Amino acid sequence: VIDRGNPNTQVLMIGEAPGETEDLQGKAFVGRAGQLLDELMRNLGFDTIQDSLIINVVKCRPPENRQPKPEEASQCLPFLRKQIELVKPKIILLLGATALKHIVTSKKEFSMSEEAGRFFEHAEYPGIKFMVLFHPAYILRDPRKKPDMIEHLKQFISEWKEIVNPVIARSPEGT
Ligand code: URA
Repeated sequence: VIDRGNPNTQVLMIGEAPGETEDLQGKAFVGRAGQLLDELMRNLGFDTIQDSLIINVVKCRPPENRQPKPEEASQCLPFLRKQIELVKPKIILLLGATALKHIVTSKKEFSMSEEAGRFFEHAEYPGIKFMVLFHPAYILRDPRKKPDMIEHLKQFISEWKEIVNPVIARSPEGT
């Protein structure tokens, strides 16, 4: 499963690995988690198909949807790096702990409650703004985190407007 969305975009989202629905359709984030992500973003005026490209750290479905093994992630990493190089995004959204730990390999121990909503830059990818988000599958499992997720998405949207169209973002009509 390679991706879903628009490769000529400023926003790249990175998830963990395809699940069963993604495996069957050959598209990233088309199952329940992807549908929730689409809905949350659509409510904020962001069309995931037009305005972003969604990819995963691991390109094949792990059996029984288990977490990808480190060696599976490292085998897929060159493809992930190439995708970032080709798309040249201005913003990368890391969906969940797997994406964060494989992009920022120096991060060994961390808590997603502290990381989610955080923007950062990465020396290996100059000029790209990174943001950490909860994985939408986590929100499906624990809907109490949904308001936090929406708050983080709003922060992303204002950053995105600033990058895509700084003049509109700063005018009262653009808010
Ligand atoms: N979860 C992911 O991390 N990626 C998908 O493509 C689907 C579900």
